[in-house]
Amino acid sequence: MIKNKIIYNNFSDYQFKVAKAKGSFLWDDQGKKLIDFTSGWNVTNLGWNHPEITQEMIKQIKTNTYIPQWTADPIQERYAEELSKALPKRLNCFTRETGGASANIMALKTARAYTGKRKVISFKDAFHGSLYSLLELGYSPEYTVAKAVSLNFQDNIHLNYPRVKSIDKNEKQILVSFEQSLEKVLKENNDIATIVCEAGIITGWGSTFIAPKGFLTVIRRLTKKYGVVLILDEVGTGFSRCGKLFGLDIENVIPDIITFAKAMVNGASAIGAMVTTKEIAKETINKSNPQATFGWMPDACAAALKTLEIHKRDRVWEKAKKDGKYLLKVLQSELKNNHLIEDINGIGMEIGVHLKKKENKKTKMKQMIEKARKLGLHLAYADDYNFQIMPPLTIEINVLDKGIEIFLKTIKFFS
Ligand SMILES: Cc1ncc(COP(=O)(O)O)c(C=O)c1O
Repeated sequence: MIKNKIIYNNFSDYQFKVAKAKGSFLWDDQGKKLIDFTSGWNVTNLGWNHPEITQEMIKQIKTNTYIPQWTADPIQERYAEELSKALPKRLNCFTRETGGASANIMALKTARAYTGKRKVISFKDAFHGSLYSLLELGYSPEYTVAKAVSLNFQDNIHLNYPRVKSIDKNEKQILVSFEQSLEKVLKENNDIATIVCEAGIITGWGSTFIAPKGFLTVIRRLTKKYGVVLILDEVGTGFSRCGKLFGLDIENVIPDIITFAKAMVNGASAIGAMVTTKEIAKETINKSNPQATFGWMPDACAAALKTLEIHKRDRVWEKAKKDGKYLLKVLQSELKNNHLIEDINGIGMEIGVHLKKKENKKTKMKQMIEKARKLGLHLAYADDYNFQIMPPLTIEINVLDKGIEIFLKTIKFFS
């Protein structure tokens, strides 16, 4: 869709103009107030336009706004220091990225440069960003880098995601089968550089699928055994979304590389990061070419520092865990006999409401979203059969309840 000269992707068909946003609410350009169940897709985890974060940015803007990549602003080093304190000790080297896709591309380049291998294992239904194979298109002096580390589709091995539905009683068996199929792939291919995944959940577009408990532990064990780099995409799970500060804290797994973006600055600016160990960073700097003109601008770092401070100070993940459990329980019990629903499952405040394909005509999802908006609730369009419910983690309980009430009313209206 093209509207007022901007090109939108398909899931923006229902788009409306946001005139104002604050805390758990958005206001459209007609002045209608909406409860937000999206957090801008796991971005505004602390609520929209958090005043403390805005304040820090304003302070920084008065000091310095730009720093070129061959040097550093002191605030960038402060942020690297603070973020490393919140992570496992060995993950203490950062590249300065502008978003999730650039962080993931950097992670892939780094893993390939480190191992000297090409293949990448990833999961069907996962989403890691919309950039792909960029180096081959790029500036010719980088072609040597491209040959060493860039991504070709034939280098990808796509595994089925070991999805667990809320009604599944055989979670352990799903994990065992997954372990066997992953080990088979690792045994049969000696050119695997890395496996890319999220922490036991797919938070990206069109899914919110949940893996069996132990998923990341199994991957870590096998990646160690076969000398494969583990990239953990924390773009969606990071910053308290899943009931822990980071997704890696759910099973206490230490990956080789992590990527962050989205909630890192609570939507105050564009920022991302690839995090790895000193050993990997030292080995790969000259091959993976870490550079981004606008990576970690000082105002974004001021926002990132404050964002991290608030998550730790207020232990935001604890509220996310508690409210997420409540939200999941209410939705599951209220909709358990609804003929439209296939499954409802989630981790923390990332809940997937999956509709049965045969009961739902494609256009219904957008009608449901429009209906909810008329009733005062902003929902994200995940795809034609999935709602991804991702309220701000700071949402007040009465606002959460009101949002749940509108969501249930909407589903029941179409049932
Ligand atoms: C899990 C995950 N990884 C990576 C990305 C890409 O991030 P960005 O849109 O900042 O490039 C997304 C975006 O939705 C995502 O959900």
